[in-house]
Amino acid sequence: MWTTAPEADEEDVDRAVRAVRAAFDEGPWGTMTGTERARLMRRLADLLAENAQELATVESTDNGKLLREMGGQLGALAEWYYYFAGAADKIQGETIPSDKPNFFVYTRREPIGVVGAIVPWNSPLLLLTFKLAPALAAGCTVVVKPAEQTPASILEFAKLFEEAGFPPGVVNVITGFGEEAGRPLVRHPGVDKVAFTGSTQTGIAVMKDAADHLAKVSLELGGKSPNIVFDDADLEATNNGVVSGIFAATGQTCIAGSRLFVHERAHDELVERLLEKAGTIKLGDPLEMETEMGPVAFEEQLDKVQSYIEVGRQEGAELVYGGKRPETEQLKDGYFIEPTIFTRVNNDMRVAREEIFGPVLSVIPFESEEELIKQANDTSYGLAAGIWTRDIQKAHRVAHTLRAGTVWVNTYRTLSFNTPFGGYKMSGMGRENGLESLKDYTQVKSVWVELSGQTRDPFKLG
Ligand code: NAI
Ligand code: MG
Repeated sequence: MWTTAPEADEEDVDRAVRAVRAAFDEGPWGTMTGTERARLMRRLADLLAENAQELATVESTDNGKLLREMGGQLGALAEWYYYFAGAADKIQGETIPSDKPNFFVYTRREPIGVVGAIVPWNSPLLLLTFKLAPALAAGCTVVVKPAEQTPASILEFAKLFEEAGFPPGVVNVITGFGEEAGRPLVRHPGVDKVAFTGSTQTGIAVMKDAADHLAKVSLELGGKSPNIVFDDADLEATNNGVVSGIFAATGQTCIAGSRLFVHERAHDELVERLLEKAGTIKLGDPLEMETEMGPVAFEEQLDKVQSYIEVGRQEGAELVYGGKRPETEQLKDGYFIEPTIFTRVNNDMRVAREEIFGPVLSVIPFESEEELIKQANDTSYGLAAGIWTRDIQKAHRVAHTLRAGTVWVNTYRTLSFNTPFGGYKMSGMGRENGLESLKDYTQVKSVWVELSGQTRDPFKLG
């Protein structure tokens, strides 16, 4: 054990929500202009950039994610706050030309209020930032509930708010378990909106609980994303894209390209290249810069990944690479699992239908574009998809047909603060990032002003 965190219960959650509610209803935050909020956000971003290396090390130590990846991620994180700081004083309503004489009608885009932000363990600071940056820009206040496995980086980050000069209570962190801390937060009547990232199963429970007091909900949930390779693709670039889609972050990402659809004419060559590449992936200490794949985050994840490898075998998929825990002296006691590749997978198998959240790739061959699209869309999820082809018409045609919130063409796993991100179907609702995300943290008020100064017939509508 390297650190400890408090285990909040319902009473702690209530205190946290009251403090954040007061900051919204009574504190100076609620009367600040967007320009003033932006100033604070930029200061926070400066501090985040200054502390990026330390925060990256804390997060990497907490969840085993590569420092190599975290360095880049946290360096970029400040950009989220700069971008949304820039948006904070541009959140505006409109004037509406009235259909009736003598009225002035306009709208205001107002903050939704108190947000409960619940995040998982795989990328705590990044996934929190997806919520926090637009929420602060919009003028909301936020109670954050990190995952019980990985509270450390968020607690460290929270210290920067005071230093940046935010009024007390604008952001509050409660650490604890899902049932004891997360659930009371969702159910709290003082919470106006819940922004959740995690499993689809918990997302459904969150939405049901939020419904009891009609809190708004945005959900970023699981995925079983298709990565699609046509026979005219550049197989070298494709190979790297496939590896980044499933082995980067040890496969523990919601956007993992876990179903690899390959045209039968490209199949054998791509699989051969993949095997070669998988053989060179360097497993090791996530804090060392040359490591390419770290361990999975905790024991339950290791058990889960291993059990799916067994399921794949029993379903008749062919295990062509990996599938075991490495046996070297350095790695055998960690939660390491080899990069794992199954071929001859059928889209109906459980390994092709259920989110494994680990470095396990299912390769599915296809013959025609029509059959491919049917299969790629035959999933309960719809978070992301990749397309690899040199044919520009095919690329756009297929991109438009896929039921997914993000489609990458000849790339995979790229994200930005300015580009909307979110799921179709059971991958969630609402969008994070981009100006689009501000809609999830604001609500529209219409103001009608009578201009004639005369009295009107009380029994006639409008
Ligand atoms: P989870 O969805 O249960 O946990 C995510 C967050 O929700 C944590 O902060 C947790 O404390 C909180 N939570 C749990 N139950 C809650 C409830 N009833 N009300 C409010 N908050 C609650 O995910 P978990 O259990 O960590 O992982 C299970 C599986 O979910 C993973 O193996 C993976 O397949 C998937 N997962 C997917 C993620 C994604 O980004 N798509 C992220 C994390 C997990
Ligand atoms: Mg859970």
